[in-house]
Amino acid sequence: MARDSSGISFTAFYTGEVWRRHGLSVPFLAQPEGRLLYLAGRPMERLAEALLGGGNETMLLQRHLIIDRILEKAVLEEGFTQIVEIACGLSPRGTLMAKRFAAQDLHYIEADLPGMAARKRALLAAAGELDDRHRVIDIDILAQDVPISLEAVFGGQLDPARKTLVITEGLVNYFDHPTISGFWTRLATVLRQFPAGTYLTDLYPNFQWHRSVRVARVFKAALARATRSRVSLHFGNEEAIKAGFHDAGFAITRVHLPESYYGVLPIPVQRTPSLVRVVENRVHAPVGQTA
Ligand SMILES: C[S@@+](CC[C@H](N)C(=O)[O-])C[C@H]1O[C@@H](n2cnc3c(N)ncnc32)[C@H](O)[C@@H]1O
Repeated sequence: MARDSSGISFTAFYTGEVWRRHGLSVPFLAQPEGRLLYLAGRPMERLAEALLGGGNETMLLQRHLIIDRILEKAVLEEGFTQIVEIACGLSPRGTLMAKRFAAQDLHYIEADLPGMAARKRALLAAAGELDDRHRVIDIDILAQDVPISLEAVFGGQLDPARKTLVITEGLVNYFDHPTISGFWTRLATVLRQFPAGTYLTDLYPNFQWHRSVRVARVFKAALARATRSRVSLHFGNEEAIKAGFHDAGFAITRVHLPESYYGVLPIPVQRTPSLVRVVENRVHAPVGQTA
């Protein structure tokens, strides 16, 4: 039986409120739980901004907008027309991108554990936002041999003829490495059935050199307790990130640093190096290119 990771789900209310407060969301995704969690987290956030030059919220905004940018380029420049956002929570991305890329015939599938998926589906349905091109489905990335497993969902609910891009945001650091790399390996396998397959994820690595690493470890321990999960920082440097995704079966991996997007995207700039990365993985190497 799969492990139950539903203890993580409430964190989606917090991030949903961050997107809303920064003008990145849509009114019908605002939730009272999000407001409460956000206000409760403010004192810690202010302290981190004062002492470290940027806190959790800064990095949330950095990762969110960088993922949006890479997604836009995949649609407009490479013709990806099927997006699956796993662990979507209250992210507004599905609503915004399905509308924005209607002319490109974009199909946007949001996916989450059944409880969170039901809530998202109800909110979108009440706002009249669901149709054939924008759906919310149930998935459990840890489950196998059940109708909501990765393999069953990808085999039964997606169009195999479309270039497919999978997103996870705010998910992978809630699991220890053996667990999440098991998911990555299964994801690389299912993505190979499409004409092109890309996987985008944010990632908080275990950077020993970073002056905030001790603070990050305290935060990690508190988050693990609150979510009943094995919060972990994955990989010590960029080479290890690339090797880890290569071992999971991805052909090409590119690591995006927030600093490369300062002045390019409207992301907050922090005084110290950012701790978050966005990792772009492809299952097929373009002709003439290797990892
Ligand atoms: C931190 S929230 C991120 C939500 C959203 N991606 C965002 O950035 O605002 C983590 C999400 O992971 C989902 N989740 C937890 N365990 C999962 C699993 N085994 N399979 C799929 N989703 C899961 C939770 O329900 C929750 O929506």
